[in-house]
Amino acid sequence: MSEQPFQMTFSFDDVLLVPKFSDIGSRKEIDISSQVGSHKFSLPIISSPMDTVTGTNMAKTIFNHGGLGVLHRYNTIHEQCKMATDAGSVTLAAAVGVSGDLMDRVAALWTVGVKIVCVDVAHGHHSNVEQAIKKIKDLYAEDMTIIAGNVATPEGFSDLQSWGADAIRVGIGGGSICSTRIQTGHGIPTFHSVYACSQVKGRASLIADGGIKATGDIVKSIAAGADFVMLGSMLAGTAESPGEVMNSTGGKRYKVYRGMASRAAQEEWRGEARSLEGISTTIPYKGSVENILTDLKQNIRSGFSYSGARNKEQFQKSPVFIRQTSSGASESGTHILSKNE
Ligand code: XMP
Repeated sequence: MSEQPFQMTFSFDDVLLVPKFSDIGSRKEIDISSQVGSHKFSLPIISSPMDTVTGTNMAKTIFNHGGLGVLHRYNTIHEQCKMATDAGSVTLAAAVGVSGDLMDRVAALWTVGVKIVCVDVAHGHHSNVEQAIKKIKDLYAEDMTIIAGNVATPEGFSDLQSWGADAIRVGIGGGSICSTRIQTGHGIPTFHSVYACSQVKGRASLIADGGIKATGDIVKSIAAGADFVMLGSMLAGTAESPGEVMNSTGGKRYKVYRGMASRAAQEEWRGEARSLEGISTTIPYKGSVENILTDLKQNIRSGFSYSGARNKEQFQKSPVFIRQTSSGASESGTHILSKNE
């Protein structure tokens, strides 16, 4: 054991940003753009490569709002390429694994115009990921931008960066449908990982991934050093996410949202379930994702303005976080007493 076996960590709800002087007249003055490799995006939001989050419609819509969609990989090469080609000329990314059909898939995606791939595995600080990144970079060099992950530590971030990843997904076990921490005992609160990894950030962009449940968490992620956030549950259950809208007996509408390591997802894409590290659930149908993206854009800008920042560089320069107590956390949520109390 090391000298300090127990390290104090912080989650999104443990911290708040201290408001700062602002002379920003309008949220329109605020630039929330960010970059992955040579690709610039006006909205720092990436939709997760999950089969209940990103297919063609999500990728198209999120691009139209300035962000990036990552097509999921739980299909044949032909099906994934078809998703990329139905989407038209939008910039999108496509997920790949680390073995099996990896290089065939990358080649086919390249042929249909995909210029960003996401090496998508649960434990990204792994020699398989190193080999996958190097194989892709050897063949395509800087013409193919690589997102890779997931990692939770500065060591992991630093290694993936040196292996050639252009952007790195940070967060292990924090996702709303994850059970990795329950099943394996491993993980680090996403906010803490983001802050720790930002300390070793060089050329690679940092993507905060897992457990982001409100715009406040997006704003905290960016202040802590993230260039983008990746969203699953906030975008799931919408008209643009893959899957049918179902009706409950009570007349409510809902859709399925599931972890890619859940029994249901594994049985469907792999034919059997091995190590279960996620759950499958239903969530209320939310209508079009357009409204959600419009709100997110406005709210992220508001977040920057409370710190008097006109862009990401200013915002990340010297954020001041405070730790809140549990009473502070309950004050931070809406807490009006009901009239009957
Ligand atoms: P949110 O909180 O946005 O999280 O719904 C989405 C992220 O969760 C990860 N993911 C999983 N993690 N088991 C896990 O431990 C799973 O089955 C699983 N499926 C997705 C992934 O990083 C995603 O972006």
